[in-house]
Amino acid sequence: MILVDNIRNGRFKTGMTDEAAEYTSSFDADKLLFEADIKTNFAHTSMLKHEGIIDSDIADNILCALDSLKEEGFDALVFDPSVEDVHMAIENYVTSKIGPQAGFMHTAKSRNDQVATDIRLVLRERIIGIQIGILEFMEGIVEMAGEHLNDVFIGFTHLQHAQPITIAHHLMAHVQALKRDYERLEDTYKRVNLNPLGSAAMATTSFPINRELTTKLLGFDSYLENSMDGVSARDFVAETVFDLTALCTTLSKICEELILWSTYEFGVIDMADEYSSTSSIMPQKKNPDVAELARGKSTIVNGELVTILTILKAIPYTYNRDLQEITPHLWNALKVTEDTLSIVTRMLLSVKFNTERCAELAGRNFATATDLADIMVREKQVPFRTAHKIVGRIVNEATSNNMVEEDITSDFIDDIAVDLGFDKLYLDDELIQKALNPTENVKIRRVVGGPAPEMVDLARDNIKVFLNEEFEKKGI
Ligand code: ARG
Repeated sequence: MILVDNIRNGRFKTGMTDEAAEYTSSFDADKLLFEADIKTNFAHTSMLKHEGIIDSDIADNILCALDSLKEEGFDALVFDPSVEDVHMAIENYVTSKIGPQAGFMHTAKSRNDQVATDIRLVLRERIIGIQIGILEFMEGIVEMAGEHLNDVFIGFTHLQHAQPITIAHHLMAHVQALKRDYERLEDTYKRVNLNPLGSAAMATTSFPINRELTTKLLGFDSYLENSMDGVSARDFVAETVFDLTALCTTLSKICEELILWSTYEFGVIDMADEYSSTSSIMPQKKNPDVAELARGKSTIVNGELVTILTILKAIPYTYNRDLQEITPHLWNALKVTEDTLSIVTRMLLSVKFNTERCAELAGRNFATATDLADIMVREKQVPFRTAHKIVGRIVNEATSNNMVEEDITSDFIDDIAVDLGFDKLYLDDELIQKALNPTENVKIRRVVGGPAPEMVDLARDNIKVFLNEEFEKKGI
């Protein structure tokens, strides 16, 4: 085996202390850059060969060594903290195979543009993976919603009964949020998929490199136009992690609802046993631990975003070693998001709705009161504010007298109207009961975006078109 020199040996007469070497090493986080770094070196060396910057035979030897490293995998690297990072470990591997001529691979290249390139190569793949996960989740929810188009449910504001909806309408609200989470990543991808290679340390190089060629070889859409920006920009990382935070926020909201809905008090869903735990002392317990942990873990991503933004703040141009600290936080944010997206998808899609309980909640507690006010406006041309006042008093009287929706009659309404100083309304009793019926209530909300079954079905159709287009774009 050929002995590998250390880059310090020229400038310094001594190595770092073990403590300092350990402290500054990025090797743990660099593991995920291994394949990308081989790709970057491959593209760079191929370009150097193509432009006649390095000897063609030497270039071939380098490319051959990189190929065998790819075959052998990460464990073929000799690594101790004095090697600093994966870039040096790979160069050392090539040197151990072909000798000092390996040194030509670092012509017109710095670890600064190399690491920025590697991160972008890995990140773009991970973004696509998460996007596909979002599309699959949306597809599952759209199908689930199809089974509940006519199942009425209660909608909340302030977590108090508000107005009747359907289970499908509620599920489709999450689909719209997920669509935006997807689209944000789609937009971010444009700023991730740009090539910093060729920026070198920060001021490019005097060698006549061909940046268009490495851009093409690495599948980037374009290259970053300023070399100082190229090596030091990490806003694409912050932006991606913000997108992940937004996605995890959507997931945490879903989890929070599942936790609430699975309580005895709500009794709205039955969580699958596969996603539930029990207690070591209370034998009756069925706890929504997976949903709780997903709600908790999604917070980690918020934390990583703040860490990344804080590292970035006030860093002067150009490369500073602080930037190395960003990478592990990016990996962690990606991993937590991927795991959480996957498990929340499976958990939600295995939930069973108690449709009778949903209907019961929708029909009680005067969730249909808005429509009673609406018929006063529609049938008797009463100003909405007056109707609002009369119905508010009806609910007040009814609840203090233990009356339910079915007990509300035209006479009862008129007594209250007169009491409040208004004329009698003479509303038809049948009409009153229709207005107070949650199923009828939902049916007549036929506005686009509303809960009427045909409108929710239309929304489902629109999402299906979107899903087909996007799956196709992602080659699925
Ligand atoms: N390990 C470094 C990072 O992750 C890349 C190498 C640049 N190192 C340096 N001393 N200029 O950012």
